[in-house]
Amino acid sequence: MRTFTNVKDIGDLKVALAEAQEIKKDRYKYESLGRHKTCLLIFFNNSLRTRLSTQKAARNLGMDVIVLDVNQGAWKLETERGVVMDGDKSEHLLEAIPVMANYCDVIGVRSFARFENREDDYTEKILNQFIKYSGKPVFSMEAATGHPLQAFADLITIEEYKRKDHPKVVLTWAPHPKALPQAVPNSFADWMNEADVEFVITHPHGYELDPKFVRGAKVEYDQKKAFEGADFIYAKNWACPGVTVPEDYGKVLSKDMSWTVDTEHMSWTNDAFFLHCLPVRRNMIVTDDVIEAPTSLVIPEAANREISATVVLKRLLESL
Ligand code: CP
Repeated sequence: MRTFTNVKDIGDLKVALAEAQEIKKDRYKYESLGRHKTCLLIFFNNSLRTRLSTQKAARNLGMDVIVLDVNQGAWKLETERGVVMDGDKSEHLLEAIPVMANYCDVIGVRSFARFENREDDYTEKILNQFIKYSGKPVFSMEAATGHPLQAFADLITIEEYKRKDHPKVVLTWAPHPKALPQAVPNSFADWMNEADVEFVITHPHGYELDPKFVRGAKVEYDQKKAFEGADFIYAKNWACPGVTVPEDYGKVLSKDMSWTVDTEHMSWTNDAFFLHCLPVRRNMIVTDDVIEAPTSLVIPEAANREISATVVLKRLLESL
């Protein structure tokens, strides 16, 4: 595996899930694989889980790790070609990428959607420049339209906690005060569509996700109907994806608190487990009661970020 940006990159999910369990039993099993190899983690945006879990994963594999926060201590980077660089940006990404690639063997990139131009975000302009110009294996640590390390950890968690074959998994939009990217719901849909689950997406009108991620999934606009019989509820906010009205891309169209996941919502389900990628705004996305309930899996889900990252880094190291 030379890149990790979507579910197709990981191949057979049953094999990947078995590898995850193998690593969970002995997370240092492959610690000689990364000897004298360096993992560079580049953050254009903030992070808690990804920053820590990916470093831990690299160390599980015996790698050295360099973390670069682009906005703290590096030169301000220009990302557009053709710009006259007479402003505050001192270095161009087209030099910075091959320079950074000199110092490492594998590169992780976090670069969120900017909401300035839908096409730039949905063509993954920044991430794809790293893939094109670094000459190194590159993996997404959440890019403009996807967060595959999170979706893989979500799938591992569902597999571990499911009480029956082919569980019903519901992705629900929930309110948030600020505009958030679609990376997490897109990747969750991408992975659930390939997993052995019944997958349903629910959101208010106007929040339709891009068809390339929704594919054949059922979309149910009535949240109560969607929740009925659910075994897992995955809550997430996302700003307007601009599918039906392109001018609305990146806008907050609704803050309807009736979509907040509370105990009444969970009573419509089949005693469902609650999932969220974190960080989460309590009593906007989910109430205190639901996130603190024994059926809340947010902590084991976050713990599985180390496992998904270890599997992904192992696969990338094997490609060297
Ligand atoms: N879920 C997730 O990616 O968390 P961070 O943004 O803290 O890395």
